[in-house]
Amino acid sequence: MNRKEWFKNSGIYLAGGLSIFSGEIMPRLKSINDIKISLKSSRKFVSDFDFMRTMPSDKNIIRLMANENPWGPSKRATDAILSSVKEGNRYAFSLIDNLKTKIAKYENISFDQIILSPGSSNILTGAAIYNYQIGGNIVAAEPSYSDMPDFAEEIGCEVRWVPLDSEFKLDLDAMEKNIDENTSMIYICNPNNPTGTKLKTSELRDFCIRTSRYTNVFVDEAYLEYQDNPKAESMIDLVNKGLNITILRTFSKVYGMAGIRMGYAVSSKDMIEKLKSTTRSHQSLTVTALSGAYEAFQETEFLYSIKKKTSESREYLYSILRKEGYEYIPSSTNFVMFPINMEGERFVQEMWKRGVGVRSWEFNNQNWCRVSLGTMENMRFFEKAFKQIS
Ligand SMILES: Cc1ncc(COP(=O)(O)O)c(C=O)c1O
Repeated sequence: MNRKEWFKNSGIYLAGGLSIFSGEIMPRLKSINDIKISLKSSRKFVSDFDFMRTMPSDKNIIRLMANENPWGPSKRATDAILSSVKEGNRYAFSLIDNLKTKIAKYENISFDQIILSPGSSNILTGAAIYNYQIGGNIVAAEPSYSDMPDFAEEIGCEVRWVPLDSEFKLDLDAMEKNIDENTSMIYICNPNNPTGTKLKTSELRDFCIRTSRYTNVFVDEAYLEYQDNPKAESMIDLVNKGLNITILRTFSKVYGMAGIRMGYAVSSKDMIEKLKSTTRSHQSLTVTALSGAYEAFQETEFLYSIKKKTSESREYLYSILRKEGYEYIPSSTNFVMFPINMEGERFVQEMWKRGVGVRSWEFNNQNWCRVSLGTMENMRFFEKAFKQIS
């Protein structure tokens, strides 16, 4: 059976192949797991920023393409941002210290183990420059969030791309095998973008402990806050223990501040100094973003409500996909990836025509759609458009 026929028949497959997974009914992933993992066609990363520029301007598009939080920042953060505007004539010096102090206290680390940045992307850029400066190679997964390794490659670093495993998770064993004496960084995105999969905490922790003896392990935790107990799944405690680990966080996702721009990294004092010199990001921090992030940080009730709403939208999306006979990769994030039976760019265009923005990927000789989780209203809009072309 060729791929086209397989998808045509996948409704039949699903009807006969429902299984209980993590306590819920969902289609068996056997068939998509059977797709052999290969690097073949996937090295074509387009950042969300570049992708958004190609968006048609004549339509009010439902934005399900950049993993944004559709509910926006919390009221407390919004009020703080608005009232900080009148301080906009001043540089943000003391606000930088305030936010760093708050993060340091919560994470039980010292003040100078933190770098703040207008969005975490700046730190990824700085990390790429750091690797270039010391002339090391980078070990990174594919497909994953490749902003940093892509930029590093562009400026002349060697990047060792390691395919995901058969469950679309980062293949830690294979990544470890790619380390050599010239490896300056391993980039781990957990949970992974674009697949939404996450690693077992104990396995990632063991991996970090082993490999950080040889190189810096850079763990991008952009979607960690979507987990039930983020603190238990974070690798930050390894920084506390003095290991050569860098943790990246952002206010762009669950906090709903993607357009306000705030992110940070936590690492050894030494690494933070290096990242400061390659990002120079303190100069770009604004009083508005710092004030909003200060109020938002660990605002428990707000975070809980966003996670709850995201999870409702995720369940609804799963049900749409099942009804239409599609499989999907179970997600630990605010986006879901599923295989499509159409060339990716065409699929995206067809969805755009119907007022919905999504992203497409191609890997394992397969086209995939990544859809971000919007409000229930957004998801119903998605459903209407998707049904027309599925
Ligand atoms: C895994 C990951 N890291 C980092 C970023 C960068 O986000 P920002 O620069 O908005 O903090 C993104 C954005 O989508 C992401 O998915």
